[in-house]
Amino acid sequence: GTPPHHAGAGRAGFSSSLGVLAATLGSAVGLGNIWKFPSLTGANGGAGFLLVYLLSTLLIGLPLMVAEIAIGRQARANPISALRQLAPRGAPWWLVGLGGMAAAFLILSFYSEVVAWVFAYVAKALAGSLLSADPAQTQASFDALVTDPVQSLLWQWVVLAFIGSILLLGVTKGIEAVTKKLMPLLFLLLLLLCGYSLTLPGAGLALSFLFAPEWHKITPAVVLTAMGLAFFKLSIGMGTMMTYGSYFTPGQNIPATATRVMLADLSVSLLAGMAIFPAVFSFGFAPSAGPSLVFITIPAVFAQIPGGQVLLAAFFILIAIAATGAMLSIMEVPVVILHERWGLARPRATLLTLLILMLLGTGCALSQSLLAHIRPGGRTLFDWADYLSSNLLMPMGGIAIALFVGWAWGEQAFAAQLSNQGQLHNRALARALSLLLRWVTPVLIGLVMLAGLGVFGS
Ligand code: PHE
Repeated sequence: GTPPHHAGAGRAGFSSSLGVLAATLGSAVGLGNIWKFPSLTGANGGAGFLLVYLLSTLLIGLPLMVAEIAIGRQARANPISALRQLAPRGAPWWLVGLGGMAAAFLILSFYSEVVAWVFAYVAKALAGSLLSADPAQTQASFDALVTDPVQSLLWQWVVLAFIGSILLLGVTKGIEAVTKKLMPLLFLLLLLLCGYSLTLPGAGLALSFLFAPEWHKITPAVVLTAMGLAFFKLSIGMGTMMTYGSYFTPGQNIPATATRVMLADLSVSLLAGMAIFPAVFSFGFAPSAGPSLVFITIPAVFAQIPGGQVLLAAFFILIAIAATGAMLSIMEVPVVILHERWGLARPRATLLTLLILMLLGTGCALSQSLLAHIRPGGRTLFDWADYLSSNLLMPMGGIAIALFVGWAWGEQAFAAQLSNQGQLHNRALARALSLLLRWVTPVLIGLVMLAGLGVFGS
């Protein structure tokens, strides 16, 4: 049949299949691969964690990613309008879009702070003031940075302004053009670092750590962490993939694209692990160093390697590149909502989002200095933002989106998106995914959340 006419027909979007892929992969790849994945894998026992993460990605992540993109492309609108438009008469599914916008603000407020440290470290690495083979020393310089309110805040503002200025260029000339340049560079840098790291003597130990499971370390809380990572990694459950779906070209094959992005993203995580762990093991450090792995252990390790200063700068530039595409996609959610629903011109919507983030972000930026005394439940504001987004908001968004596609939207419309208006015959796939989203995904996410939060006792 003829494709439906959309109110947003003249709306900006990605211009080519390659652009769609670069932007979507750009969103998936980020701190999740280089800062979270290795440290969580290290802290939770290596290969067993990896396996649970893989299962979450396949059973929960991928179907939800397909679902979100399909919703976005059908509606060609921001998440709030999209859910409003596709929902059966009057049902308040748009609240899920609103929740996504809140999650976007929450995620960016801590994410931009980690990238702030990354930017600061790029500057320091280039100036040569970072290297010391003594971990106590690298710990001290990291502490000096994060407990300094002025540096923490200013670097965060630099990061936010940088991302905001790309978004001011728009979806096609900003997001698409920039990620198209950055993604190849990212793979190049990563392969170089990884190739180098695998020649180090600790490579064997590192690989067996990554690929030989320690089952006793898998607790319900660890399973929740792994599932949270799957959500965070694939940018799902908070409107980003829905927003990007609304920019997809009509002919783009959604399931194939989602699968490619998932596989490429996984490769980046594994390559990051293979770049980081051999170095860590070669110099006798523990892999369980947690989030400090990147900022404390790695500088101490690279100090012992010839050419370490260049490698270290390259490493932090790599993280900055990876994080850029991700931040663009998180920030795009409130920008397009403010633009389309509140009727602000796009530049104004971008500036307003920037302003809100500069204010909200202070909570995380100052969480180890001026606001360090605020620690409800033993977590800093930064830790809460991180914990709540991955382990609560994104899974809840995921449940809602699964229920929406499984029960409210209708399989016909879903199948039409998966089959590109009849070009491909994906009916069986649509059927299977619908059943999965209807019966399995919400229950699975719910159970993992409840178990992980300790509801069934531990
Ligand atoms: N996927 C990104 C990463 O791994 C983070 C992200 C979360 C991006 C949510 C968009 C939305 O770093």
